[in-house]
Amino acid sequence: MNQITFTKPDDWHLHLRDEKQMASVVMHTAKYYKRAIVMPNLSNPVFTLELAQQYRERILKALRDDTAFEPLMTIYLTGDTSSQQIVEAKDSGIIHAVKLYPAGATTNSARGVSNLDQCDAVFRTMEKIGVPLSIHGEVTDSEIDIFDREKVFIEKHLSVLVKRYPDLKIILEHITTKDAVQFVESCSNNVGATITAHHILLNRNNILVGGIQPHHFCLPVVKTEADRQAVLNAATSGNPKFFLGTDSAPHARQEKESATGKAGIYSSPVSLPIYIEMFERENKLDQLEGFASFFGADFYSLPRNQETVTFKKEESTVPGRYDYANDYVVPLKANETVQWKLAE
Ligand code: NCD
Ligand code: ZN
Repeated sequence: MNQITFTKPDDWHLHLRDEKQMASVVMHTAKYYKRAIVMPNLSNPVFTLELAQQYRERILKALRDDTAFEPLMTIYLTGDTSSQQIVEAKDSGIIHAVKLYPAGATTNSARGVSNLDQCDAVFRTMEKIGVPLSIHGEVTDSEIDIFDREKVFIEKHLSVLVKRYPDLKIILEHITTKDAVQFVESCSNNVGATITAHHILLNRNNILVGGIQPHHFCLPVVKTEADRQAVLNAATSGNPKFFLGTDSAPHARQEKESATGKAGIYSSPVSLPIYIEMFERENKLDQLEGFASFFGADFYSLPRNQETVTFKKEESTVPGRYDYANDYVVPLKANETVQWKLAE
């Protein structure tokens, strides 16, 4: 196959940052995706509806006039978030999920939740009025090995949440393991998962073999080859619980290439070509449109997009860097080739 046309996809997990940095990256997403769930972990997190409204306005202002991209906003959950705030967020029509970061799990998560019991009333409200809970599924206990943190989160916390709040819609974000795939498959249809391009492309050798590769470091960290294959199988399976979420997370080059390099892979400019290529390699291009364009919208009870995108098979080299405010950001597959290109 040399050309593929499918419904324009959405990105159900995206970090856009803010101000000049946001303006540098947002068009890379808007080029491929109609909508995106915008994560609230700014350095001053999006704790409230009001902050989300202001952030949304800044994003819309940064877009080119001819762009139909629609940011779908989220709120950052803390132990102090109230049920009243959840109701107001839902009524606004602009908030599509509440994001749970276990405190300390990842970039800008210090103000996240340290005890899930504190959120009981909020979870019940979300369950009742239909607000999805988006979860960064990793424990933060220092004694738990970093490669086991997703698995332990599922065992210790997620399995409890799905039992306690059976009608709550939960998205286990950026799944990385066979354990996560099996858990999500075993749950009701209220539990789904996003899958990134990098977690179906890379395994942990890609971080550590041939010299440390900071631009492949993200959280949850990429896992074994068997895990990568399990996550890829889930993505290409046609099971509507699994849908596209890039977790594209730009950091300035110096913040990545540093003694304590930041977690996050910048994939916006290449994510869709990579997904297509990986589905093609598995002989599963027929499952791409469901994964990329239908299942996420269905899960979030939003309409499917009407417009289409066409990709042609044509090799191109990925730029080594993109401008990022006053610095630059190194994308996934920098200076390497991708096989599929948007037909303009
Ligand atoms: C994300 C970021 O940089 O905001 N980093 C990452 O490694 N994925 C946060 C997150 O989603 O964990
Ligand atoms: Zn993320």
